[in-house]
This record gives sequence, structure tokens and C-alpha cells, in this order.
Amino acid sequence: MRTVRVNAASKSYDVLIGKNAVTVLGEQAKKVCPGALKALVVSETNVAPFYLDVVKEQLEGAGFEVTDYVFEAGEQNKNINEIAGMWNRMAEAGFTRTDFVVGLGGGVTTDMAGFAASTFLRGIKVIQLPTSLLAMVDASVGGKTGIDIPKGKNQVGAFWQPSLVLEDTAFLKTLPDEVFTEGMGEVTKHAFIMDLKLLEKLEEAAGDIRSDEDLLEEIVYMNVSDKASVVGEDETDNGRRQTLNYGHTVGHVIERDSGFTKPHGICVAKGMGIVMDACVRAGTLAEDDAERMKDLLKLYKLPTEDDITPEAIVEGAMNDKKKRGGTLSVILVNKIGQAEIKKMTAEEFLKFLSV
Ligand code: GLY
Repeated sequence: MRTVRVNAASKSYDVLIGKNAVTVLGEQAKKVCPGALKALVVSETNVAPFYLDVVKEQLEGAGFEVTDYVFEAGEQNKNINEIAGMWNRMAEAGFTRTDFVVGLGGGVTTDMAGFAASTFLRGIKVIQLPTSLLAMVDASVGGKTGIDIPKGKNQVGAFWQPSLVLEDTAFLKTLPDEVFTEGMGEVTKHAFIMDLKLLEKLEEAAGDIRSDEDLLEEIVYMNVSDKASVVGEDETDNGRRQTLNYGHTVGHVIERDSGFTKPHGICVAKGMGIVMDACVRAGTLAEDDAERMKDLLKLYKLPTEDDITPEAIVEGAMNDKKKRGGTLSVILVNKIGQAEIKKMTAEEFLKFLSV
């Protein structure tokens, strides 16, 4: 089992990564949640049939009284009604401030479990058990929690760091191919913005990191280490953490315009491709470097373009929460392995995308 320590300003905690990591859940929960008597396992309908029983057994075996809350899978259910359901379930079960929540699922689940924990009794502990690649390498680490509202994705939420993240890479075996591919959007993003070694490893693996369990574990570990270093420097997204939004300013607009039917990681890949092209046109990114990055995206079956217009991107982006005041923070990669934050007005962003 590999360990990454996250040292966020508000809290430090471990991310444990490895095959069958779930088997240490009970003992680890006792360690990080001393005094806890009860646990609420939050999961969704695609994941629960596979892993809810084993997680509950682990917790019950360690002496916790366990209750669960399983919601219908899908981004459309990432809303306040489900959070209220979780609050009520905990209240009915008599949870106190020392009890805890476990998020078992992909990014939607870990975001919601974290948000329910951050608000119940003004904040109780959460342990994250991500089951998707995207949630392992990104969503479950770093304490961003929240829900969507009709005006946009993740518009309501809190920074609430978990007490432990347990990443059982054997869970990835049951992940449908297209969901695994989506996670590669965030994996390639880490490579582009900060990790040349990861980029080379992904190139060497030639589009397949799934069939070799050790390689998969190593790739997850490299991504979590990258994310931990960023969160350790900037927990609340005021500086370096914004570089994790590479491809997201454009990707979020594509995702929202599709009514959230296009997966997040796929939209991020499209967004990165669109920004790469704009940087090449602006003369700040070498064409060869853009080709190298786009080849990697294609190798992992990710798209690099979309037919959305520059006008639609800018209009959508100006409504996004990544806007600060009247400007947007657009993340650029002009040299592979290095990201920069460029403030742009709507007019500048339109010009950047159009010229
Ligand atoms: N997913 C981007 C972040 O955690 O900041």
C-alpha cells in the first residue's frame, strides 16, 4: 500500500492507495475518528451493488453502527434534496458530532458526502472511498465538496477536508471503459500542467494503463502526489490550485450546454485541446508540444476538439464561478509540465479563442 500525506492548511490526512485497501477501512476509521459510534455510508445505485456490503462489513466489524444512504446515480441528482436526505438519515439515527460519513463512489458521491458532512451539526468527519479513476486522482483529494444548482455545476459547497482517503485500486476493475476514459482527462491534465515524468509514463504505456495493476497503482499514486502538492500550497483556490482548472473554463461550458450529458473528463479534454490550439495561434506554445499533448489525449481515446463557438464559450464562461470580478482566470500551458494563470476580460478571451 502506498501513502500520500496531504498537508492542507486546515488539516493533514493520508491518502492510502493499493489493491484491497478497503480491508483496512475498519482499523483506519477507528484511528482517524476516535470516539465515533456511528457511520453513514453515502453511495449511489451503480456502485452500491458492488461495494456497499463489503464497506458496511468492514465498519461493522470495527464496532460501528452503520446506516446507508443510496441515491440514484447521475449528475442530475447532485442537489440539495439528496443532501437533505443524508442530513435526515443521520438525525434519525441519532448521529452526534463525533460520528462520521463515508463517501463511496465517484466524484458526484464524494462531493455530496463531503458536503453533507461539512454541514451536519456544523461539520463532522468524512472518509472518502473513491471508486472511479476521476475521483481517485482528483475529486476525493483536496476537500472540494458541493452540489449543483440550475445555474451551474458546483455552485454551492464548502472546502471540507476528509480525515482519510482510501483508494482501493481493485475497485477500478468494475469501472466501465468509458468511465475509466473520462478519468484519463484529469490524469493527462496533471501530466500537462506539472508532471513530465507522468507524461512520459503515459506515453510509454501506449494507451493502456489498465491491464497492469502495478502500473495503474503507480499512476494513481503519481496523480495523488501531484494533487497533494498543489493543495498543500493553496487549499482554497486563490493561487496555484487554479492551475488544476486547465481545460475546465471551456470544458464546463461544453458540459453545461450538453445538459450534463457529456462526461466531465471528456469535456475537460476538449477544453484542453481548444486552449492548446489558441496558444499555438497566439504563438506562445510550440506546435510540436501541442501535437505531443494532443497525441497523448488521442492515445487514451480522449477528444481534442468540439464544435462549440468562441462566442458561446465566452458567454458561458462569464456565468461560471471561475470568473472573479469582471475577469476570467484562464489556465494556459505554454511549456509542457508548466501551467500559468492568465487573467482575461471577456473581450480578451474571445480574441484569444477566435484569432
Ligand atoms: N478539481 C480541481 C480542484 O480540486 O481544485
